[in-house]
Amino acid sequence: MVAAHPSADGDALLDWNESPIGPPPLAVKRVVDAAERLHRYPRGLLEEVTALAAAHHGVGTDQVLLMAGVDEAIDMTLSLADRAWGLKPGFDGYPDRAAANNKPFHPIPLGSDWQPPAGLPAGLGAGDIVYLAQPGNPTGNLVPTAWIDALRSVAGHVFIDETYQEFSDRPGILSRTGGPQPGLLVYRSFSKAAGLAGIRLGCLVGDAATIARLEPMRRFMPIDAVSLHAATGLLEEPQFMVRLAEYVRETRVDLCAMLRASGLFAEVRESQTNFVLARPDAAVHEALLAVLAEDRVRVKDCANVGLPGWLRISVGTPQDHGRLGLGLSRLAASLVERAAA
Ligand SMILES: Cc1ncc(COP(=O)(O)O)c(C=O)c1O
Repeated sequence: MVAAHPSADGDALLDWNESPIGPPPLAVKRVVDAAERLHRYPRGLLEEVTALAAAHHGVGTDQVLLMAGVDEAIDMTLSLADRAWGLKPGFDGYPDRAAANNKPFHPIPLGSDWQPPAGLPAGLGAGDIVYLAQPGNPTGNLVPTAWIDALRSVAGHVFIDETYQEFSDRPGILSRTGGPQPGLLVYRSFSKAAGLAGIRLGCLVGDAATIARLEPMRRFMPIDAVSLHAATGLLEEPQFMVRLAEYVRETRVDLCAMLRASGLFAEVRESQTNFVLARPDAAVHEALLAVLAEDRVRVKDCANVGLPGWLRISVGTPQDHGRLGLGLSRLAASLVERAAA
């Protein structure tokens, strides 16, 4: 039988950066209310939600397309360029979708400080699109705005993925540029800061001419009724996003403090997102992973996303953190015992 609710299986899910306070209540209500009408196409609802989303982001309705997740936004925007570029380590969706679309992907390597090189990559030009998550994943940090501006002055298109924006201290790029600009594309996800990962919905924001160029590429009724109803509930009650962001900002400080106090980590970095990065002492790395697996606390091992030795740990519920803390204490105590023996 398929599990109706994977988290009900009892794992502490600190690996995929989902909402620790559940979904927006009004979004749930709208979905439940709409269930009896699922035999109908969602006539007019895409336009309604697009208008709500545009107002939420302070842009015109002709400057937004609702997207079924970032993959669709990447697929569409790849059509604007011959080559794609992105930071390494960086979000794996960019090279993956470039490969799926038969477009070359050029990595821009980050330094040991997880910042891009001082200059711009050689060869970048009008036929290129650069994909940049700000804040980044897996690094959780921001790159200098001056570097982003320099990219924009050379690359044909720059796609700023603001999936984690609401958790960051720096305002989003559209507030700095005074709104959409030619060559600039911005993705805002409903998965993280809006607590709606289950519907994979987001907004692609761009200047009206670029949006008009991309719009005909969409399928008929590209966003399903359940997602659209959830989005109406979210956008009619934006206070939920404020509450979620506040919870994450406060709780990630506590999470870092707990990790540091355990004495098991060589380095813990508070991020601009809803996760933190922690590097266990090399000597305890394997033992720590074993304890977490035994306690069914899931975290993301960053070895296969370009940060070997690092763990990405989402900000979770108080229960999740309690469970993580118990595992850390147990391991620390066993190490003390072993040292004393
Ligand atoms: C940088 C970044 N962009 C996008 C996403 C996914 O967003 P969506 O669920 O809206 O496709 C993630 C998910 O981990 C991410 O880390």
